[in-house]
Amino acid sequence: MFRSCLAALGAALFLTAAPVMAAEEGPIVIKFAHVVADDTPKGKGALLLKQLVEERMAGKIKVEVYPNSTLVGDAEEMQALFDNKVQLLAPSMSKFAPYTKKLQVFDLPFLFDDAEALQRFQKREAARQLLHSMAEHGVYGLAYWNNGLKQLSATVPLRKPSDAAGLKFRIQPSPVLEAQFAAVGAQSVVLPFAKVYESLKGGVVQGAENPWSNILSQNMHSVQPYITESNHGVLDYMLITNNEFWLSMPFAVRSELEGIILEVTQAVNREAAAVNRRDRDRILASGSSQLITLTPDERQAWREQMLPVWKSYEADIGADLIRAAMTVNRRR
Ligand code: LMR
Repeated sequence: MFRSCLAALGAALFLTAAPVMAAEEGPIVIKFAHVVADDTPKGKGALLLKQLVEERMAGKIKVEVYPNSTLVGDAEEMQALFDNKVQLLAPSMSKFAPYTKKLQVFDLPFLFDDAEALQRFQKREAARQLLHSMAEHGVYGLAYWNNGLKQLSATVPLRKPSDAAGLKFRIQPSPVLEAQFAAVGAQSVVLPFAKVYESLKGGVVQGAENPWSNILSQNMHSVQPYITESNHGVLDYMLITNNEFWLSMPFAVRSELEGIILEVTQAVNREAAAVNRRDRDRILASGSSQLITLTPDERQAWREQMLPVWKSYEADIGADLIRAAMTVNRRR
């Protein structure tokens, strides 16, 4: 399916493709920029991609990885891709909200019961179609890379939804996430990922939502004395490239690279949960933060309070897509 989608897109865009680069000009350089640390699911995936390309495609392709917003931050990275200043990105779904509304399905709170449900959804036709949702911007979705389930962290314990009332939470630029916090009486502030730690430390915001790997790798736990294991949403990425660049590569080179991407995608998605479990353990071992685990009834209270957000965004996202996502849960 992955390969057939790529082939279909390639055929569709053949006429508009840029001229093919001459292989004799030296390796084609692919700059892969991202905003997280190397030792996270996405960071590890980027490095594995670089390693496999070095091992198998030396002289043809060279991948340069720029982690931690060192080349571009998340406010500028999409424009950098449009301008071909970078050739690979893996933004979280929330970062696509200014460009396409459908991908906000991934931001809906309590939509996926667990990471396995998300992985099942990503194999469905409805989700495969979403890889093309940036086509009008000349952007091509290559794969889904998972991180993990999001946890709520704050300067105060969050056990009931009303505990969040009046607090300010850092959010990614997604209206769904803003509505999610508004639903529990909280405010939200859109901030780039690179600014989250200092904004929590300086008190610009009192809370955030992140998977364990992002909390640990940015040292957020050191300034968030309480972490509620809410598993209320997912942090998921789309690996994207710029169509024109992608189709400018010789077909054989592109196909080999697509094979490597498929292999890396499987590794990222197989290992993401283990990386998050490891980082959860490290945070708890550090003693910095108190873990708040919710009883099923307590978790249900957050769910009920946040659920109206689905209805508010149904017209933007599409009722069919929401239904398709819901069917991957085992419990409903
Ligand atoms: C965030 O901004 O919180 C995440 O999208 C960062 C990332 O890429 O994991």
